Amino acid sequence: MVKIDIEGSSSFVKAARYKDFEAKALDAFDTLVAGNGAGNDFLGWKHLPSQTPEDMILECESIRDEWNKKGINLVVVIGIGGSYLGARCAIEALSHNFAKQLSSAGKSAPEVVFAGNNLSEEYLAELMDLVVERNVACIVISKSGTTTEPAVAFRIVKKYIDEHYEDNSDRIVAITDARKGALKVLSAEQGYRTFVVPDDVGGRFSVLTPVGLLPIIVAGFDAREMLKGAAEMEKALSEKSSDNPAIRYAAMRNLLYSDCGKRVEVMVTYNPKLQYLGEWWKQLYGESEGKDGKGIFPASVTNTADLHSMGQYIQEGERILFETVINVRHSNRSVTIEKDEQNLDQLNYLAGKHVEHCGAMARLGTKLAHIDGGVPQMEVSIEKIDAFNLGGLFYFFEFACGISACTLGVNPFNQPGVEAYKKNMFALLGKPGYEELSATLKARLNG
Ligand code: PA5
Repeated sequence: MVKIDIEGSSSFVKAARYKDFEAKALDAFDTLVAGNGAGNDFLGWKHLPSQTPEDMILECESIRDEWNKKGINLVVVIGIGGSYLGARCAIEALSHNFAKQLSSAGKSAPEVVFAGNNLSEEYLAELMDLVVERNVACIVISKSGTTTEPAVAFRIVKKYIDEHYEDNSDRIVAITDARKGALKVLSAEQGYRTFVVPDDVGGRFSVLTPVGLLPIIVAGFDAREMLKGAAEMEKALSEKSSDNPAIRYAAMRNLLYSDCGKRVEVMVTYNPKLQYLGEWWKQLYGESEGKDGKGIFPASVTNTADLHSMGQYIQEGERILFETVINVRHSNRSVTIEKDEQNLDQLNYLAGKHVEHCGAMARLGTKLAHIDGGVPQMEVSIEKIDAFNLGGLFYFFEFACGISACTLGVNPFNQPGVEAYKKNMFALLGKPGYEELSATLKARLNG
């Protein structure tokens, strides 16, 4: 179960002010539960864990089984933002660190790679170097069905699949809007199997829809356990109480932002497998809160590696930071440091200790050092890294995000700012309809 500890921040704030922000977060909780706040037509994610239809999971599992039977050993998941970060986060967290390098003998699940999240020509060319060596399928995900990055990648991967496989349309699954968008039209035309991104679930809240679940299932992981963990969290967070972890997290982060000048929240993980938890969380909070000239800037580090790079800044740079540490209470594997008779490396004082113990002491030592250096900390802890606990984390951060953004006074569910770059890019690329803007931008660039 996800637990939260906000004690590492308490000494930075006044208790009475925490009560004020707790009251605001409790009001925001009511708004979120009643569904009467800004963006209330995007609240479908709230009950996904407890209301996910069994047939959708069965359909995902049958695609997995069918592709396994065909011997597919590479699945390209195409999507950007909320259309890939949840799946990538889960797959990286649940995969063996060296899955790619380990012998492929006995591997029952295909390798999953991601595309459509950049416009790098080199990335796509190198993706195709891999594709030509493998037996390939593709999951293309775009809620709007019109996003440029995934559309470009899909055109290239689709062409390859069409030219190389007779069963081409069985190797492509599209996840998109129920009614509109180019991907919807193309899928109907080509006879692809499709899943729907529900109208009332925004991209960054969609990890527990087919957007996240299909890639996770195809990669060989247990989406049912993930939904179970999320459902348990949905239940745990449903109570309006000052002990509700989502309310505590939302209240404290808003208080640190409002009263203490803490402008940046750093998610800190101590396991390289959780690097993409940071990426998923940054999108969730950045896109949900960064608007109307407000919002905490979400950043992330992976320790202990980043203690040797960003650690200096966090300890002594601008005092605008606070940290949210993900503490995984138990390692899934065990490695003990053994005694060495010569002790030339002088590590015998650690003989008999688990590496995890060293990691825990690094985390606790860092916590105290950073608090001494003026960096408040919160801690979100989970038992271990598995599908169940990840499901709980996903739901915890989503629900807390809804409360936090309402506490801040912004609409958590829109992202108007994302359009600005798109318009300029379309104009510069010469997309029909953007001629006037194109001329203005070119004049500015040349001027
Ligand atoms: O959270 C969001 O809504 C966005 O980040 C989208 O997921 C992202 O822009 C991709 O959009 P689409 O799925 O429509 O291609």
